[in-house]
Amino acid sequence: MERLLENKICVITGAAQGIGRQIARQFAQDGATVYACDRQDFATGSGHIHPVVCDITDAAAVKQAMMQIFKAEGRIDVLVNNAGVVFNRKIGMIMREETELMFRVNVIAVLELIQLVSRLMARNGGGSIVNIASVTAVLGSPGQVAYSATKGAVIALTKSAAKELAPQGIRVNAVAPGIIRTERFAELYEADGGKIDERISRIALGRLGTPEDIANACAFLASDKASYISGHILGVDGCASI
Ligand SMILES: NC(=O)c1ccc[n+]([C@@H]2O[C@H](COP(=O)([O-])OP(=O)(O)OC[C@H]3O[C@@H](n4cnc5c(N)ncnc54)[C@H](O)[C@@H]3O)[C@@H](O)[C@H]2O)c1
Repeated sequence: MERLLENKICVITGAAQGIGRQIARQFAQDGATVYACDRQDFATGSGHIHPVVCDITDAAAVKQAMMQIFKAEGRIDVLVNNAGVVFNRKIGMIMREETELMFRVNVIAVLELIQLVSRLMARNGGGSIVNIASVTAVLGSPGQVAYSATKGAVIALTKSAAKELAPQGIRVNAVAPGIIRTERFAELYEADGGKIDERISRIALGRLGTPEDIANACAFLASDKASYISGHILGVDGCASI
């Protein structure tokens, strides 16, 4: 049986850990050749996953990395914009440097990657872009005013890019995760003194999400099975009400 992403050339950002690492693993299992970009050095543990050390806010480094992949493979079929940073602050505590960094990584770098990679995709008749947003952008979340604004921007740019890039055969969708149990989750919530039970009680399916839940949704949207889906924001949140 043919696998979901057989022979696809896929670039995934923020793939050293957490959700991005699982997306890379899932895509490789589904038959893709994966270029896993991260600002930190890491081992992928798979011959089908090639690590690319690159800070996505460094436009020159990103261009060099994408051109190298394009030259080596002759095409890029899929881009998953997963890398993201978060600072949770109540409104009175928001710090401009943190907000600027979140907008640089979560929004501006995503826009610039779409600009660059969509040109390369267009040369081969199209491709699929999946952006990682967040349920906080849809439902709102106290302590995440600045972060949720960056993810709201991701949702908005996904819808507009989908319309603009459709004539070139490029689909653009987003996945909006709920609370996903990753390394970052442990830092953010486990230190939170038991409040996690209260959060789980607001998730209709009664559990936190896993990186596998997000990777499965990304694999579907990236694949040709989703060839008539573009401009869609897919909530993968267990039916949450934050
Ligand atoms: N974990 C959750 O509960 C959750 C919920 C909703 C949305 N998200 C989103 O999912 C994505 C992944 O989240 P995660 O929990 O796996 O986060 P994480 O912090 O565990 O992993 C993010 C990865 O991105 C990399 N990264 C950060 N800045 C970068 C840069 N400038 N250049 C290159 N790489 C960079 C980090 O090194 C890290 O490996 C993020 O966009 C996040 O906002 C996560």
